[in-house]
Amino acid sequence: MVATVWIALALVSVVPAEVIRDFYHVAGHTWEPIKQWHNTHHKAFRKDLTMVSFEAFSKAQWCNDVPESLVMGAIGAIAATGAGMAFGWVSTWTLWLGVIYSLGFGVAAIARSQNRMMWTDLTHEPGPLTDNPARWFVNRTYHWRHHFDSGNAYYCGTLTAVDKILGTALSLQGKTVAVTGASGTLGRALLKALKVAGARPIALTTSANVDFGPRIPVHQWQPGQEHELQSKLANVDILIINHGINEAGERSPEAIAKAYEVNTMSAWRLMETFLDTVTLSKHRALKEVWVNTSEAEVQPAFSPLYEMSKRAIGDIITLRRLDAPCVIRKLVLGPFKSNLNPVGVMDANFVARGIVELAKRDFRDIIVTINPLTYVTFPLKEVSKSLYFRMFSKGKRSPHGSKASNPIGLK
Ligand SMILES: NC(=O)c1ccc[n+]([C@@H]2O[C@H](COP(=O)([O-])OP(=O)(O)OC[C@H]3O[C@@H](n4cnc5c(N)ncnc54)[C@H](OP(=O)(O)O)[C@@H]3O)[C@@H](O)[C@H]2O)c1
Repeated sequence: MVATVWIALALVSVVPAEVIRDFYHVAGHTWEPIKQWHNTHHKAFRKDLTMVSFEAFSKAQWCNDVPESLVMGAIGAIAATGAGMAFGWVSTWTLWLGVIYSLGFGVAAIARSQNRMMWTDLTHEPGPLTDNPARWFVNRTYHWRHHFDSGNAYYCGTLTAVDKILGTALSLQGKTVAVTGASGTLGRALLKALKVAGARPIALTTSANVDFGPRIPVHQWQPGQEHELQSKLANVDILIINHGINEAGERSPEAIAKAYEVNTMSAWRLMETFLDTVTLSKHRALKEVWVNTSEAEVQPAFSPLYEMSKRAIGDIITLRRLDAPCVIRKLVLGPFKSNLNPVGVMDANFVARGIVELAKRDFRDIIVTINPLTYVTFPLKEVSKSLYFRMFSKGKRSPHGSKASNPIGLK
């Protein structure tokens, strides 16, 4: 028990050190005096994370990694000294542990500059990306995006908390984002919010002759013909599946078929068509699907067919994202005023801005609602269902049987 408490306290000591590292990294991109030092780090790697040359790599260790560790150690030592003088030295041992932890990175960086202890550079291990970007801890795919997606995002080195706070855990800058249900109320609001966030939105619509304004490419599609979009989706970074209908008050066989066809089956087929376009290693890092399932997954919508069809697509996503080749987010929205829900209370533009802000903080389940219960019931439902699905279903294995060795064979 005592040992557990000590280990927990020791772990806590690394958090301030990691926060200092992340802000030093932000400074490396924004503060002129250290920009060129940090730049040596960016110049050292190719897109497959192999070294440009050992000389460039070694230089980056001395110009970036060693100073970073010294800054982490120095700020930690100043804080520990101040705390020691104020509260007594015994109470500051965890801070000193943080200092030792920080300086340890400097020692590893010096060793790497001599071609030793290369295994210590976990986030720059060369080779294809084998995992999706992780949520709480920085993995190779998460960090790859800092090098090759946007240098102005993904600053974190070990824990992702600082990026979540800064809104730099997902960059939309320059990303091609296709939105279904584009002519609808939320569809239009999303196109606007995405543009403001620096993305290049594309409208996917089932309607003919709709004007989306200048510089928004438009592609038509119909449920049942999702596959025809594949070549278009190959060039899309993020697909937002947003279309939906509400067969309120209906229970005829035709209404059941229509609700499931539009809200569940076409959304699922579209998602699978998009996932088939994840063919390159970099797609693991760059491609995403967001699916608008609605808070009807856990709350009554006073429309049985709407709830049933939205819960079905919600469950399919929970199941599929256990081993999907890229990130899949859910949009879990409360009532907003639209053609589908004329009595909704929220404004669609507010909802769209909320979605974008939460996505930039890497929320995988983006909840925007005025119903406080959803913030409790949805995560509980999602975690328990996901656990249940994991226990009683199996994912596809790679031909070599190993999950870590590029399970979907990305090039
Ligand atoms: N409003 C709410 O309170 C609320 C709450 C939670 C979640 N949602 C969800 O948010 C999404 C957007 O809804 P909204 O409120 O903005 O409604 P909306 O204004 O009615 O927009 C829905 C859009 O879906 C597309 N659509 C309609 N019928 C279709 C069909 N048969 N097949 C394929 N696409 C069809 C249409 O866009 P195109 O003509 O461009 O194809 C339509 O404009 C829906 O998935 C909805 O379930 C809404």
